[in-house]
Formats: sequence, structure tokens, C-alpha cells
Amino acid sequence: MASSRGEFSSRFGFVMAAAGSAVGLGNIWGFPTQAASNGGAAFLLVYLFLTFTLAYPALMAELIIGRHAHANAVSALRLISPNTLLKRIGVSTGVFGFIVASLILSFYAIVASWMIAFCLSSLASLAGMESLSRWLTSFSLPRNMLFMLLFSGLTITIITAGVKQGIERWSARLMPALLVLLVLLVLYVLTLDGAMEGLKVYLLPDFERALSPKLIIAALGSAFFSLSLGVGTMLIYGSYISDKENLPVLGGLVTVVDISIAVLAGVLVLPAMYVALHNGVQIFTEAGALISEDTLIFTVLPELFATMGLVGKVVSFTFFFLMSIAALTSSISMLEVPVAYTIEEHGFSRKTAARAIGGAIAIVSTLILLNFDNLFGFVIAFTTRYSQPLLGFMFCVYAGWVWSRHSILEELRKGYPEVEQGLFWKIWPWYVKFLCPLIILAILAQSLIG
Ligand code: PFF
Repeated sequence: MASSRGEFSSRFGFVMAAAGSAVGLGNIWGFPTQAASNGGAAFLLVYLFLTFTLAYPALMAELIIGRHAHANAVSALRLISPNTLLKRIGVSTGVFGFIVASLILSFYAIVASWMIAFCLSSLASLAGMESLSRWLTSFSLPRNMLFMLLFSGLTITIITAGVKQGIERWSARLMPALLVLLVLLVLYVLTLDGAMEGLKVYLLPDFERALSPKLIIAALGSAFFSLSLGVGTMLIYGSYISDKENLPVLGGLVTVVDISIAVLAGVLVLPAMYVALHNGVQIFTEAGALISEDTLIFTVLPELFATMGLVGKVVSFTFFFLMSIAALTSSISMLEVPVAYTIEEHGFSRKTAARAIGGAIAIVSTLILLNFDNLFGFVIAFTTRYSQPLLGFMFCVYAGWVWSRHSILEELRKGYPEVEQGLFWKIWPWYVKFLCPLIILAILAQSLIG
């Protein structure tokens, strides 16, 4: 089985694919607005601290288990379990993980499809097709269905092409493009009137707000979502890494890229909001907080672009194209989780698995669209608020308590022979055994109570 599996052809390929999974809608619009309303640079420091001390160790747990098993989460957790009971729990965890990954994709595809529609709307407007442009931003059911199916089709096509030809190839193309577009947009927005005020709001630290316990827990939840943890995505990408690679370094690179893009996105979104304010667009809610979430992306920013004339259309196209890329490199990593499982556990071909599962997920997305008010928020809360932390907890327990320390060391030594002398081995086993599970339980308890 292992010999017919795909493998990333290079370190760069893996880092682009895993960073592609991590960098998504969460980074580009979730992080900046959260930072802005919660203490600016102080939130950033808390976020950085939590990412390196807790999310990075959890990421490493998935990468090490995945690379050791060279298999999907279900087989991997079964492999590292010493007895039947733990094997069964491991299998259930893996199965729940792929169900959650599929459900995340079902709502993510909807949001991503809005990005593509807004991107094309700017093009239509540039071409003078105003009524088409308006339809593309209309949120009507036909538009939503059409673009959800288009986005799902793109995701399925890339996953059908496999690990090297699909995931690696497209991530290695799209991620550098994303970075270049992001930098260009930042440079442009910073030249506009009002931008510096936004930058100040983003960068001036307000420690009182950033150090509240509720916020720390919220920041940790975002860090887990942002690094795609818990659902077996990083585990399956880890399973495609060659044994020669140094895992702590690779995990570190992915974490640094993820954080850097989030921070950079803040330098785009916050100044852009204040440029909008300067141009007469409302950016505060009635309660006085900064507008965030969907209203920010689909109302405030388009209103800003509309005040900028022709340039605004180009900037709008670039911005929504950037969002579409970020979403696509994340969505492929979600679909790979159930697809890899179906190929490896049930012997399906990649093409059949990708089409059947991708198709089934598109049906779930359709159901969400047809019953939007009841299902959309529910699926998001069920997957990201409750299931991801719970699954992250299980992966840490398997890495910290179930799997033998000696085997973990052997696995790490393959690409990093002197690992025992390094800082990683002195700290990580304790983190993953005690601190990570405890803190994740705290997040879970908080989200259940709150
Ligand atoms: N990390 C992605 C983001 O920040 O948007 C979201 C995500 C991707 C979550 C892949 C879960 C996953 F399996």
C-alpha cells in the first residue's frame, strides 16, 4: 500500500501545500478583525505565544503520527495503539475527523464561492457589464448554487490529480501568487489617506483587553482553526513527507508562514477599513465596535472599492482573487482527508473517491444553501467550535499517552539524527502530554459553557 501512495517531491512542495492548507479565509479576514477589536498588537503577541507553545506542538503531533504511519488518520491511530480498545477509539477518532473535515468543506465551499463570484463581478464591471456584475454580488440561490458547484469542481479536479500533480503542483503555484498579491495590495493601500490610522489601531498594544481569559481561549481556538488542526489534514499531509525530512523544522516553517500571512493580512485589512472610513464608508457597528465577519468582506470593502473608481475595480478583483486562492489551497486539504481514507481503507481509485466524496459534500452544501438560516451557523459551530478542539485533544492524547515515546524518537531521528540533543525533544513531549490536552479541554469547556 505504502509504495503506491503519493509523496511530496520536495521540502518546498510540502511547505507550500501545508501552508496552503493553513492559510485560508481564517487568516485573511478572521485574524485581522479579531486583532483590531481585541487589543491590536497585544492580541498579536498573545496569538504568537499560543501558536508557538500550543498549536505548534499539536501540529507536530499530527505530522509525526502521519509520517510514521504513511497512512490516513484511521489507519495511523490504529497502528500506534497497543491494544484493541485503543485501536477502536483511534479508528472512531479518525472516522469522526474525516466527517468533520467534510463538513468544514461543505460550508467553506459556500463562502469560497462568494469570493469567486465577487472576483468575477469586478471583471464584469471592468468590461462594462453592470447587470451581470450586480447579479454576481446578489447572494441569490442560483448564483450561490452555480459558484458552489464551480468551486467544488475545482477542488475535486485538483484532488483527482493526486499528491504531486494536484496538491503540490497547485499549492506551489498558488501560494507564491497569493504572497505577491497580498504584498502588492498592502503597498497600495498603505499609500491611501486614512491608512496610517488603521495601522495604528492594529499595531498599538492594549494589554488590558488582550489578557482577558476569555480572549486568550478564543485566540487559541483561532490558532487551531488557522493551522487546520484536529481533523487529520496535517496528519495526512505529514504522511506524504519523505523520511529524510526534519519534521520539527518543517512544522516550524509552516507555522511561521501561517502567522506571517495572518499578520500581513492585518496590515492590509485594518488600514483598508480606515481608508473606507476616510472615504465616508461606515466601519463601526451601532455598538461602536469595528464591523467584522461577512459584513466587512462583502459590504465595507466593496463600498471602499466603489469609492475608488476604475482602480477600485482592479483592486477589488485582486483582493477577491487572493481570497479565492487562499480558500482553494485550504479546501483541497479538507477533501484529501476523506479521499485518502477511502483509497487506503476501501481500495477505491483516487478518481472515483474524489468524485464520489466531493459530490456528496456538494450535496451537503446544497442542503445548507437551501436551508441557510438554520444550517450554516450550526455547521460552523459544530465543526470549528466543538469538534476541532475535541479531535485536537484526541491527537495529543494519542501522541502523548498512547504511542510509545521510544517510537516517536525513532520516527524523529529518521530525518534529524541528533534530535535528542535539541530543544524540541526537551520540551515537546511534555507539552503534548500535559499542557496541550489540558488547555484544549479548557477551550472546549469554555465553548460549551459560553
Ligand atoms: N486553516 C484554514 C483557514 O485558516 O481558513 C481552515 C481549515 C483548513 C480548517 C483545513 C480545517 C482544515 F482541515
